[in-house]
Amino acid sequence: MKKCRFFVVFILLAFANMLCAGEGMWLPLLLKALNEEEMQSMGMKLTAEDIYSINKGSLKDAIVHFGGFCTSEIISDQGLLLTNHHCGYSAIQSHSSVENNLLKDGFWAKTNSDELANPGLFARFIDRMEDVTEKALMGVTDDLSSEERQSIIDKNLDAIKASYELSEFEDVIIRPFYHGNQYFSFVTVTYNDVRLVGTPPESIGKFGSDTDNWVWPRHTGDFALFRIYAGPNNEPANYSEANKPYNPKHSLPISLDGVEEGDFTLVFGFPGRTNQYLPSSAVEQIVETLNPAKISIRDSALKIIDGHMRADESVRIQYASKFARVANYWKKWIGESQGLVSTGAIAKKKKFEEEFLNKNADNPEIRSILPRFEKLYKANEEYAFTRDYYSEVASRNIELLSLTGIMNRLIDRYENNGRDDYNSYLQRVKGYLEGFYKNYRPEIDREVFASLAKMYVENVNPLYTPESLKVANRDMENFAKGLYSQSSFADPNKMMGILSLPPESAIEKIKTDPVFMLGTEWSNLIDAKVNAPYNRNKTQIDELQRKYMQAIIETFPKKRFYPDANSTMRISYGQVNGYQPRDGVTYMPVTYLNGVIEKYKPGDYEFDVHPKLIELSESKDFGEYADSNGDIPICFLGSNHTTGGNSGSPAIDAHGNLIGLNFDRVWEGTMSDINYDKSICRNIMVDARYVLFIVDKFAGAGHLIKEMKLVHPKAN
Ligand code: ARG
Ligand code: ASP
Repeated sequence: MKKCRFFVVFILLAFANMLCAGEGMWLPLLLKALNEEEMQSMGMKLTAEDIYSINKGSLKDAIVHFGGFCTSEIISDQGLLLTNHHCGYSAIQSHSSVENNLLKDGFWAKTNSDELANPGLFARFIDRMEDVTEKALMGVTDDLSSEERQSIIDKNLDAIKASYELSEFEDVIIRPFYHGNQYFSFVTVTYNDVRLVGTPPESIGKFGSDTDNWVWPRHTGDFALFRIYAGPNNEPANYSEANKPYNPKHSLPISLDGVEEGDFTLVFGFPGRTNQYLPSSAVEQIVETLNPAKISIRDSALKIIDGHMRADESVRIQYASKFARVANYWKKWIGESQGLVSTGAIAKKKKFEEEFLNKNADNPEIRSILPRFEKLYKANEEYAFTRDYYSEVASRNIELLSLTGIMNRLIDRYENNGRDDYNSYLQRVKGYLEGFYKNYRPEIDREVFASLAKMYVENVNPLYTPESLKVANRDMENFAKGLYSQSSFADPNKMMGILSLPPESAIEKIKTDPVFMLGTEWSNLIDAKVNAPYNRNKTQIDELQRKYMQAIIETFPKKRFYPDANSTMRISYGQVNGYQPRDGVTYMPVTYLNGVIEKYKPGDYEFDVHPKLIELSESKDFGEYADSNGDIPICFLGSNHTTGGNSGSPAIDAHGNLIGLNFDRVWEGTMSDINYDKSICRNIMVDARYVLFIVDKFAGAGHLIKEMKLVHPKAN
């Protein structure tokens, strides 16, 4: 238990040394010890207890994990939920058709009964969190192999979980922090009835689309409104018409006073994944090998899909969400690589490593961590490259091949567990396929196949290429034509027909389908020759990363270290701040409606502006939502450290009021996942007043404004 004590000491000592303001994603229950003082020195008027408390309602009770992939927040005492348009995108898309196009026209429910149900979408609260390190690491000693260590920890975690008394909609999640040096548990409460209340048209919610994505200056009204419904007694319940709007423990008041450069900002949400403590050898590999491979594959896939979307409106609706998803990280990786190079991230890491080595001059064991990393990353390079290549080509971008895995699981169910299990899984598969085919065009996918399969054959070591593909590469287009015309996977009627046969016959047909055969041959090859050695190396890398993390903390006892993001609830705080993207250029931290009009390109699918918005801008019918300059603010920048999953997070002012809605980061700073740099890492938020203006003046949904609590903190 030496380690636990060491961590307590580390936490107490920690706030002696300040990081640069803005950096870090902190745990709400450690704010008092680690951050409160600094936050208050930056202007915050709240206490740590106002933000996170298990004894009384606090800000955390208004923060909701949205579907597990985004953040959202409660903004009325009737469970009104604010999140990003891009977080609600699939839900909005699922209610859209060419005739009734919510994406294009927007949607505003007039009454509760007009609000639209979204099966599968959930809203998850954190009831409380706890440090369970001591119990999680009970019986763990330094001499254990990583497998032995993990198996003890797994047993401990099971025991900890079993010790919680949970009701039907409660759950407990335990996650490792600091790469397995600490463990925290989270008791969650999940509401499964979440309905769509309102969304602006895409020309507002996704204004600037992919061209402006990850870019400042930004003019996107990236928001949508949902509502949580509860069963009798305000308890979580599955969807039912009888459910009532949820009455929350806390809802965020909304500030009408806006922001100025230097104002305190707090972003509260569920950041997904970061890697701040990688050794330089790993970062080098990302910049030189892995990012370029992934970017080039998506380049090709996106070009093909874009061509079809521009040519046909119905394709555009079908592929809009998928396209945005693929384009999003494609663009992010490009920015990330550039930012890592332009801020000299590798050199900085190397300098840090030198200092680390110097401070451990008399500890050869610790010193050996870095050269061991280097060897392991080198040894793993070809496997990591091939894995990324395979996953981009065969599971993310060629849609038909992505069905192979699902079919294999279905067959496994039958072969291992029999008919009943097969049938129950079959229902899920059918549901999935319905959604899949609704948005699927085999002729587009076939082109993607021809292009990406060719890249694979030409760029990946032939050892990891299926024989049939090597032969096919003599004329990949022709091969793709044959494949897509022969496979039942490419035809919804044939596929559904097969799945309605008795299991034995269905399985026989699936197993002899050419797409299934190719996909299975390919994935077996990758499993045996790539994943197996990759995973062996990765286990060692992870083990080393845990030791490195521990050694870093022990080597620099006066520094504070925040744990990498892992989809748990975090706080990041900073200030409203512009930046200098390059020499001679300064970016202001706030954009305005006149900037929307500047970008306006009539008829363009990214930069068209709705006539009503033009009208409002001309008549200056801004109500109480304008800034002191008389214009409507659209977006603003902060120095908050955020990542994917933070979308939809509230931006909160010094007093605990909502001032904005986080949705993106700036291009130059997307490398903040690996190397936060305070000079250029900025998060982008929609100004809360733009949200109110659109709901009130644009949509005429004043009844929603009435639910909210609007405040003037600066006047008081
Ligand atoms: N870049 C933001 C994030 O990573 C927004 C993505 C949605 N917008 C888009 N145009 N794809 O999620
Ligand atoms: N746009 C991201 C999200 O959806 C946020 C980010 O990566 O900054 O979570």
